[in-house]
Amino acid sequence: MVLGWAIIGAGMHPHQKLAPAIGITPDAELIAVLSRDQGRADAFAETHGALAGYSKMDDLLADSRIDAVFVASPNASHLGHTTQAAKAGKHVLSEKPMATSVDDALAMVQVCQANGVKLGLGFELRFHPAHLLARDLVSQGKLGRIRLLQAHWGRGERGEPEHQPRSGLRSWWENPTTMGGGSVIMGLGVHVFDLVRYVMGQEITEALAMTDGQTDSQPLEHIASMSLRLVDGTIANVSCGRMLPDTLNNFTVYGTDGRFTGTATVWEARMGAVEVVSETVNQTESFEYDYLANFVAELSDFHAALNEDREPTATGTDGLRSTEINSAVIESAKTGRTIKIEHRTV
Ligand SMILES: NC(=O)c1ccc[n+]([C@@H]2O[C@H](COP(=O)([O-])OP(=O)(O)OC[C@H]3O[C@@H](n4cnc5c(N)ncnc54)[C@H](OP(=O)(O)O)[C@@H]3O)[C@@H](O)[C@H]2O)c1
Repeated sequence: MVLGWAIIGAGMHPHQKLAPAIGITPDAELIAVLSRDQGRADAFAETHGALAGYSKMDDLLADSRIDAVFVASPNASHLGHTTQAAKAGKHVLSEKPMATSVDDALAMVQVCQANGVKLGLGFELRFHPAHLLARDLVSQGKLGRIRLLQAHWGRGERGEPEHQPRSGLRSWWENPTTMGGGSVIMGLGVHVFDLVRYVMGQEITEALAMTDGQTDSQPLEHIASMSLRLVDGTIANVSCGRMLPDTLNNFTVYGTDGRFTGTATVWEARMGAVEVVSETVNQTESFEYDYLANFVAELSDFHAALNEDREPTATGTDGLRSTEINSAVIESAKTGRTIKIEHRTV
């Protein structure tokens, strides 16, 4: 059965990645897109071969060809769009960060449960084969007891010594309310927090952060360094930032019997290489650059979850847990204190 998708949001991410990925995913069809402006909705639909553009959520949700919505609106709009979609019986795949507060994230999980629709999260790093290998190595004990993880996601262009604020339709990225109190933490760090949880199969219990923001004079950070403690005591060092044009975007897992390194795998495109050195596994592998492969895998997984009536690989609860980490990290950056993470019951 073909899955009919609508994208909620007609911005950069849907334009560059989500619509093209839906276009090449087997058994997926882009039915519609939502913009606040009918002209922009129609233009997006024409560019990407969608059957309809809508400027009203109710009109979009009344379109019976739509089975699932990909919520890719500004962060603070994810809750409202998810709530409307769930109440209309549409399945939801939400972009990260799931929400701008833990309460909102919990409400998203609950409204999808109450209305019997699936909720998934757009954590595409879970679909990079390098990270699947890391997860297998950890769960099979091939690296021994894991002691430390180091993971980093940065970006930038040379010749930009100062942050260039986003403007126009993208100016919401500079607003602490629409962003949820974090900038690179919400844009990049949240992916890495989720990757650590996914690879380790454990929750994060404590966070300590140092950033150049979260102050009255600079509410949003451009660089952030975090120490996270997992349930079994393993520590993860995570950093993220902009104005880092030559960033490595590596992911390393150190165990008592070996090491996994993903070189340049922490990026939305599938790319980079892995090296494993250990008592029992020694291997290298490189990945040809593929801009959309992780997104296609994410879309296919969501469709399979519907067909098999199982949870998607990244669930609503995963989104809630990552939001709890975002919130703890932001609070730690503000206060300078280590924050214990309270896990909300779903
Ligand atoms: N998974 C990933 O790797 C990844 C990558 C990038 C982004 N994302 C996520 O995807 C979402 C969208 O990101 P994006 O880069 O596409 O955003 P964007 O290009 O800035 O566009 C968002 C769109 O939202 C509308 N909009 C702007 N300000 C608004 C406001 N104050 N209230 C409501 N709508 C507003 C505008 O469209 P209209 O005026 O036409 O409605 C705008 O084009 C974000 O949550 C982001 O974190 C995920």
